Amino acid sequence: MNILLTGASGFIGRNIACQLSAAGHQVRGVSRSQGFDFCQMQGSADWLPLLDGIDVVINSVGIIGEAATQRFTPLHTLAPQALFRACHEAGVRRVVQISALGADASAFSAYHLSKLAADDYLRSLDLDWFVLRPSLVYGHGGTSSALFMRMARLPLIPLIGAGQQQLQPVHISDVVATVIACLSAPQAKQTLDIVGNQRLSFAEWLQCMRRAQGLAPGRVLHIPLMLAMAGTWLGRWFSPLLQPDNLRMLQTGYLADVQPITQFLGRSPRALEPQLFFLDATTTTSAGSAT
Ligand SMILES: NC(=O)c1ccc[n+]([C@@H]2O[C@H](COP(=O)([O-])OP(=O)(O)OC[C@H]3O[C@@H](n4cnc5c(N)ncnc54)[C@H](OP(=O)(O)O)[C@@H]3O)[C@@H](O)[C@H]2O)c1
Repeated sequence: MNILLTGASGFIGRNIACQLSAAGHQVRGVSRSQGFDFCQMQGSADWLPLLDGIDVVINSVGIIGEAATQRFTPLHTLAPQALFRACHEAGVRRVVQISALGADASAFSAYHLSKLAADDYLRSLDLDWFVLRPSLVYGHGGTSSALFMRMARLPLIPLIGAGQQQLQPVHISDVVATVIACLSAPQAKQTLDIVGNQRLSFAEWLQCMRRAQGLAPGRVLHIPLMLAMAGTWLGRWFSPLLQPDNLRMLQTGYLADVQPITQFLGRSPRALEPQLFFLDATTTTSAGSAT
């Protein structure tokens, strides 16, 4: 198949691209580093020339925090809506949208709301759509994985409050496997939460990453929520991840039923194993730990 993949240079996108190419598909990548800026692609006319000969579109562009010209509305809502509209006009029927767990009626953050607006628009079109909502994705090469790995190595692990925020992390290989399955799934028009099969607290998550790096359980530093919030007002100037809204999302915790994704994949998502932190989708497959 000929596949247009946006965000092809990102963590999730490049893992998808590798697996698609390995399976013999032709991938046309779209990202700033490939010469395309979503900020400049907000009309369907901007997309139509790129859709010539394309069978499937996968949208994997996203940001976790706003910075300079990188804003949620153009990147998460306006450009994807223009792309989906162009798909409708060009007759590209199958569209896979990478959204995020929590982009639903409970959404309160600009991150989730901007994704939800694009998801809802796609769901309103007569296309063979899939809206995929991954939980926190881990594996080699992920920006948030790298940050958490560094935090886990600290002599005192910083936790917000008691560190009991709930997570259900999923390995990158399961996200890629879901996307690949969407290409041929007979039943489209599905919204799927891509979650791991284990629920754990943020404190357990960091200790787990610590163990994976060969370190003994670490001592923790409990930071009161209000102090952590105050810290993000400064931190956001250093990293888009350190935004007050991201802390609020962490506090909320996002969990979902693992059964639908298990059914869709025909197997359970991978159990959390230490070596998975160091593997991406390709190396996981070649390491033979797929079930
Ligand atoms: N990683 C997770 O844990 C996770 C969890 C749930 C949902 N998601 C969603 O999954 C998607 C991919 O995430 P990721 O982890 O792969 O993020 P990432 O590594 O930061 O990759 C983001 C991609 O978007 C592209 N991009 C950013 N700004 C752009 C712009 N203005 N125009 C065109 N392309 C642009 C980037 O390429 P350039 O920098 O070259 O432009 C890159 O290819 C996002 O929508 C994210 O919200 C991720």
